[in-house]
Amino acid sequence: MMKIGIIVFSKTNNTFSVAERLRDVLVKRGLDVVIDRVIPVSDDPGPKDSIEFRNLPDVSVYDVIIFGSPVWAFSLSGVMKAYLTQVSSLSGKKVFSFVTKQMASKFTGGNKAIRQIRSAVEAKNAKVDNSYIISWKSKNREKEIADCIDQIAKSL
Ligand SMILES: Cc1cc2nc3c(=O)[nH]c(=O)nc-3n(C[C@H](O)[C@H](O)[C@H](O)COP(=O)(O)O)c2cc1C
Repeated sequence: MMKIGIIVFSKTNNTFSVAERLRDVLVKRGLDVVIDRVIPVSDDPGPKDSIEFRNLPDVSVYDVIIFGSPVWAFSLSGVMKAYLTQVSSLSGKKVFSFVTKQMASKFTGGNKAIRQIRSAVEAKNAKVDNSYIISWKSKNREKEIADCIDQIAKSL
């Protein structure tokens, strides 16, 4: 059976809570899905520090991967960026991504973060099927989460 990994970095659990809801929906549909957390040694590394990992998910065991990360400083979180740089080939895998962020405004890093995930995935010879942005402080948050989950579930 196709193995699905939700590979997520989350410091304050917003991104993780979306991952859990996504997992629960996919499990109910009988799919084989796990959440695999990216855990850095320090979740507050200085900008010049190299990032070391306490848990480093192995992409090679999954057929489908959904990457989840917060937006930090108008970009993809440095932890996720460092993680994606060192993963092995994603060739042949189906890939999705979602990011969570604070503000609903268009110019607060969501689009940049999903572009950064897209190019990191392309550097590993795969393409991101679809990406989702969830604005935590937006009145549309629940709808954004539901759309992300429904659309990923629909494309599996
Ligand atoms: C260091 C840091 C930088 C952040 N920078 C941004 C930002 O540029 N734009 C934004 O909308 N939210 C920003 N946020 C808010 C987070 O993206 C948001 O709270 C996110 O949902 C946190 O995800 P998590 O709970 O999974 O860690 C920042 C948070 C932190 C800790």
